[in-house]
Amino acid sequence: ASSTEVDISNIDPGQAIKAVFRKQPVFVRNLTPKEISEANAVPLSSLRDPQTLAERTKEGKENWLITMGVCTHLGCVPLGAGEGENRGEFGGYFCPCHGSAYDTAARIRKGPAPKNLEVPEYEFTSDTVVKIG
Ligand code: FES
Repeated sequence: ASSTEVDISNIDPGQAIKAVFRKQPVFVRNLTPKEISEANAVPLSSLRDPQTLAERTKEGKENWLITMGVCTHLGCVPLGAGEGENRGEFGGYFCPCHGSAYDTAARIRKGPAPKNLEVPEYEFTSDTVVKIG
């Protein structure tokens, strides 16, 4: 199958899991209100790849941040979901290969990566299941 279904019912606020989509890691994260506020407080003009959190999530479900777990520099898997407590200095994800740091909207903030972590196509098929792809 080319799509992946993820049960999100056990992902507490502040947690992120790593699933697999088309043989690549995908991160599913339940943002806390604080993490949402932090993302929304960043001026777009300060971003390398300007996008709002709202543009990167679904309306009414801004707490669910779903991105590929593939660094946009050279494709390493960033830390911060599932294993590895190191979320980097912007609180999102941290790529240990060359030090790219992503924020709580998985937007690139520091290091060599040119783009935000990619948001795949996805939809909520119920309150507890998201279908990616
Ligand atoms: Fe992530 Fe280079 S592959 S910083």
